[in-house]
Amino acid sequence: MLATALSATLVGLQAHLVRVEVEGRRGPPFFELVGLAEAAVRESRVRVKSALAQCGLFLWECQVIVNLAPADVKKTGSGFDLAIAAAAAGALGVVPPAALQGTLFIGELSLEGTVQPLRGVLPQLLGGRARGVKRAVVPRANAAEAALVEGVDVRTVGSLDELLQALRGGPELPVAVAPAEVVPLPGTLDDLSEVRGQAGARRALEIAAAGGHNLLMIGPPGAGKTMLARRLPGLLPPLAREEALEVTAIHSVAGLLSSSRLSRERPFRAPHHTVSEVGLVGGGDGPRPGEVSLAHHGVLFLDELAEFRRAALEALRQPLEDGMVTISRAYAKTTFPARLLLVCAMNPCPCGWMGDGTRRCGCSTERVRAYRAKMSGPLLDRIDVHVVLPPVEVSALQGSARGEASALVRTRVERAREVQRLRVGRGEASAPTNASLPPRDLERVAVLCADGARLLAAAVERLALSARAYGKVLRVARTIADLEDSTAVRPAHVAEAIGLRVLDRGSLAAAA
Ligand SMILES: Nc1ncnc2c1ncn2[C@@H]1O[C@H](COP(=O)(O)OP(=O)(O)O)[C@@H](O)[C@H]1O
Ligand SMILES: [Mg+2]
Repeated sequence: MLATALSATLVGLQAHLVRVEVEGRRGPPFFELVGLAEAAVRESRVRVKSALAQCGLFLWECQVIVNLAPADVKKTGSGFDLAIAAAAAGALGVVPPAALQGTLFIGELSLEGTVQPLRGVLPQLLGGRARGVKRAVVPRANAAEAALVEGVDVRTVGSLDELLQALRGGPELPVAVAPAEVVPLPGTLDDLSEVRGQAGARRALEIAAAGGHNLLMIGPPGAGKTMLARRLPGLLPPLAREEALEVTAIHSVAGLLSSSRLSRERPFRAPHHTVSEVGLVGGGDGPRPGEVSLAHHGVLFLDELAEFRRAALEALRQPLEDGMVTISRAYAKTTFPARLLLVCAMNPCPCGWMGDGTRRCGCSTERVRAYRAKMSGPLLDRIDVHVVLPPVEVSALQGSARGEASALVRTRVERAREVQRLRVGRGEASAPTNASLPPRDLERVAVLCADGARLLAAAVERLALSARAYGKVLRVARTIADLEDSTAVRPAHVAEAIGLRVLDRGSLAAAA
């Protein structure tokens, strides 16, 4: 008899539906699996045979041919086990084949027939829903993420035996229930009010958050660079539900779902400086998303920037430019989204004390030059805002004066983002911020008055700004104007934006 069951496979975040066709009959043992399956899928035979035997169906008395269709989609992973076992049971008359119709089966089997959790269940269900799937069966351990998908009747299963009984008309499988969503509560995140002094850096952080500008902080150890970076996600508006689903889907594919609940908190990723190129941008087996994609819709923080491998930093270029990562493989091209805010921190020199009035810097000119060279070029080109942090003054640490709280700054950031959304005429949350506005739109929205134009022209001359840096000053000036709710970009906005191009002003020591 022939029976079919529906399953799915992932290419990046993209789900492809796979039809599992099984032809089975009693006879001398034979088990064949065809249809562009990689090694992990072929091993499915062993697991399915053993799991079915636990349910009293012995394949060594049967002939089974499994075809995975369409043949031109590469099948990866171990998630087909459940569909293959269910279709085999249908083909051998153990369950009615009609009971399998219209249901998406995702799950790996153990030899004793338990259903194991999998990576990527959420994006598979989202893909299935987009293709009209109305009903799905997933591993019980994946229930929470599966329940996030609205509009699909998702059931969970703990063992193959439980599934076969349900298909035979036994007890129905339980519905996957969504746990409460986590919306960040005020005061639960690290708050900006804990940062003393550093008015310049706080301002730069607010501008970066408002316009989506990548940021570089330069300052001696202990100035508060790491502290400030960690507080950036709290200055951004919480994720919209669709964005949160996208973020959760990426973490699901990476096998990194930290909580079973949908989080509206922006991701914050701070990879160690020893991270590899693949770790940073993605790749390897699967392929898996890298840090840039795990930071999608959130913040990627590169602390001690000069310590990172040059190759890793070079690899950041394409994702920063395109807002996504493309990984090419022999059989397929995979893309992962990567729209993030990049924050980098570094010391002014290897020892960290250059330009500090109280301590002597022991670095040779050569070492300082080599250290700074790391920062030059392509990566720097993609950072709009640079800020130098002085050492924190003791008086600021001891004083009772507190800075503004994150919530207050966030209301201004949200307002400025709203202004940008309305201006580009797109209501959705994913409308480009000033930092990612196409150049021709930038010209349209950041028209300078005569004084502003003169000021910028003088800066170009004096600082020898490149055309790219010129555009960045305009973008940042636009954001500063938006924070003030000013339609016009005024000379004062331009002046402040020029002040945030520290690295174009030559010596860091002079700037500090
Ligand atoms: N501006 C500041 N306000 C309050 N505490 C600070 C500040 N800067 C540094 N600190 C204290 O020093 C510690 C180290 O700061 P950190 O952010 O790691 O500095 P950096 O990254 O610049 O080396 C912080 O955990 C905090 O306790
Ligand atoms: Mg630090």
